[in-house]
Amino acid sequence: MKSICSSWLRALALPMGLAASLFIAEHCEAKPTPPGKFAVQTKNFTLNFEVGEDGRLYQRAVGATDANEKLQRTDECYPQAGDGYIWEPALQVSHADGNTSTVLAFEGVTRTNDAAGRELTRITLHDPAYPLEVTLNFRADRERDVVEQWTEIVHHESGAVTLEHMASTALLLPAKNVYLTHFFGDWAKEMLYPITELVTPGTKVLDSKIGVRADQYRNPSFVLSLDGQPAETSGRVLAGSLEWSGSFQCAFDDNGTAIRALCGVNPFASAYHLKPGETFATPKMIWVWSAHGLGEMSRKLHSWARDFGLRDGHKTREVLLNNWEATGFDFDFNRIVGLYDPAKEIGTELFLLDDGWFGNKYPRVDDHAGLGDWQPNRQRLPDGLAPLATEAVKRGLRFGIWIEPEMVNPKSELFEQHPDWVIRQPKRELELQRNQLVLDLTRPQVQAFEWRAIQDVLSVPNISYAKWDCNRYLTQPGSPYLASGRQSHLWIDYVDALYALMDKTAKRFPDTELMLCSGGGGRVDYGALKYFHEFWPSDNTDPVQRVPMQWDYSYFFPPLAIASHVTHWGNRPMHFACSVAMSARFGMDLDLNKLSAEDKAICAGAIGAYKQIREITQMGDLYRLENPHETFRGALDFVSPDRSRAVVFAFQLKDGQNVAVQPQGLDPARKYTVHELNPAPGRATIPQEGKTFTGEELMHDGLVPSCSHAVEASVIELGP
Ligand code: DGJ
Repeated sequence: MKSICSSWLRALALPMGLAASLFIAEHCEAKPTPPGKFAVQTKNFTLNFEVGEDGRLYQRAVGATDANEKLQRTDECYPQAGDGYIWEPALQVSHADGNTSTVLAFEGVTRTNDAAGRELTRITLHDPAYPLEVTLNFRADRERDVVEQWTEIVHHESGAVTLEHMASTALLLPAKNVYLTHFFGDWAKEMLYPITELVTPGTKVLDSKIGVRADQYRNPSFVLSLDGQPAETSGRVLAGSLEWSGSFQCAFDDNGTAIRALCGVNPFASAYHLKPGETFATPKMIWVWSAHGLGEMSRKLHSWARDFGLRDGHKTREVLLNNWEATGFDFDFNRIVGLYDPAKEIGTELFLLDDGWFGNKYPRVDDHAGLGDWQPNRQRLPDGLAPLATEAVKRGLRFGIWIEPEMVNPKSELFEQHPDWVIRQPKRELELQRNQLVLDLTRPQVQAFEWRAIQDVLSVPNISYAKWDCNRYLTQPGSPYLASGRQSHLWIDYVDALYALMDKTAKRFPDTELMLCSGGGGRVDYGALKYFHEFWPSDNTDPVQRVPMQWDYSYFFPPLAIASHVTHWGNRPMHFACSVAMSARFGMDLDLNKLSAEDKAICAGAIGAYKQIREITQMGDLYRLENPHETFRGALDFVSPDRSRAVVFAFQLKDGQNVAVQPQGLDPARKYTVHELNPAPGRATIPQEGKTFTGEELMHDGLVPSCSHAVEASVIELGP
């Protein structure tokens, strides 16, 4: 106790007079805990805390200017249920003796810096009547105004305590003119429907209850705007994104005077029995602040993600050819090898073999059978995966492989041998989704089985990339492994075991790049992404839909991580499809042998152009210029870190005039020469082609793109 108190004094580094008045007694046992103020701070963002006369910890609403207003219970920092707090709690505990109330008193605060320069503030609270301690953690990235927040709970009671609510964060905002932007969708419509609404009294809940992935209908990411409707270049905005790939809840509880954003694992059916001495750590919540609108908010988050949110965030991604849309399940050794030469010819660098390569007793020739039997199919691939990978490497292509380690088809040898390994409810008919079931990762044998399968596949020589899929979610959340009294642990223990597996995979195969996929974009969150290089946003690859979808993902995720493949979805012109894919991590999912010579040339041109600019699109700053949800086109530009180069993308979605696009982020004094990349065959040269302008002129006068009709696009490089 004593040492925590003195570390608080040190950490606060307060002026002597104030420090003395804060500490009327030598040690923390003195009651009441003296009032005091402290903050978690980044360059432009402050979370203000205050210890009240009653010893509880309070917070001032983000951006509030009324710091002298008297604190009330509704301002508590991490409110607890059962003793006077009547709103949505952050913490609800049933103690070992059955008491359902908790009180948290401030105990101390410490601050340390990690090797990357981020400051970790740990605020310790304890229940004066029970040996239960709660630590609120804030990891602040000063320059980027990013704060990661999470909570740890530990106790030393006589038996287990039950956690009913255990939020990662319970941040307060003023209840004045705050807008919430969130994203609705479904399979093939992920992130497609942004909704912006005024937060009004009551509780607005965004959540999912599907267990093994966060998203079927909504991503665990949102934006709160404090100055009315959000805008790209102005206004105070706070983005939140939960690092969790399971059921989540983000509740916005407006009591008329303040809005509390409670985010974390979904408390739904998830009571967690915590043994004495065990620590429960919630998932981390990412907060990103900008006083200059959504654009700056995203750029800070992208920059944070390159350092901390993704694997190898400073390494450019290669151009990939996937066979899923080209062949589906219909392939063998020769058909796949037949795709390599044309792939190499047009400039792709990496080949990804998708679903359908495994299963013998129950061959994976469609989605009805074979999942779980991770042996290469002997008819299709008589000598296994290695020769396929070798043939690719011989032609200068890297080779990648699809896996779905968490799943099983009832028609599989694995299910025949271990019917008790799947998640199911006793006495209920098995409910299949895509003809498959989820293996119960809480069971140690399943953990060992999946780890073995992953190792066997990724150890095949010359495999240097993998796509980790997850094509269903939980609808019958019962574990034959967990004891009856611990069934509610399934939701959390599954995700923890999954992360352990992903972590082992990343460590054991440090040079193997990983794509995160879940029947499209079901698992796009920073909880899993830290083990991956990129994600599959959606099975919907219609470029007309991808323009708004990728725009929405880009609020939270950097384009270098957004896989964007050219396919025949929507039957759009090849030039438009390629241009859209070029604005994210470029890939193709086409049978190149069936392409016309003209389309092949457009693809080759796009890949060549992409290689010229990928350093800018992947490592540079993104400026969203024209919102495709609102106007006849979408427009973006990327600016290199030294601002010497930029690329402007214009995607025409409806017929309209080709009015100028105004780029942003250029160096006003610098000169840029304009050059349209891979122009569409037959279209007139853009008026500024080959001419040189200052950044100021370009940002003021704009650039007239070559597109004016629906499904036309123009990609323009600005360089020295
Ligand atoms: C769902 C993915 O989103 C697709 O890209 C593909 O990999 C299929 N699964 C394969 O089953």
